[in-house]
Amino acid sequence: EAQVEIKLQNINVGKVSIFKWRGKPIFVYHRSQAVIEQERQTDVMKLRDPETDEQRVKRPEWLVMIGICTHLGCIPIPNSGIIHGGFYCPCHGSHFDGAGRIRKGPAPTNLEIPEYRFLDDSTILIG
Ligand code: FES
Repeated sequence: EAQVEIKLQNINVGKVSIFKWRGKPIFVYHRSQAVIEQERQTDVMKLRDPETDEQRVKRPEWLVMIGICTHLGCIPIPNSGIIHGGFYCPCHGSHFDGAGRIRKGPAPTNLEIPEYRFLDDSTILIG
């Protein structure tokens, strides 16, 4: 379980599937074109933890993150909160965008990206 292989073909556009890796939830988000464009147009200078969308993904359609709120460790809810296609942590009200970047609420940093790589177009290896 140091490494986990994930098949992408059953994750529909707009959906987040959750896997487990080293005891942590991994979010694999098949982003829509609208969400990709929204995040690429975001003004990075206005972000608390400035990172471009391009820095956070290897392929635009696939956002892979550790699904643990960077505030106090709750699991954020996908497709929820004030940002379309974003994530909401109900514990203390942190809102993350469709790139997992903190946009409102107490979380100090963006959701973390694990080590991973694409083995082929429909398979990733976490770890
Ligand atoms: Fe997510 Fe506090 S743990 S907002």
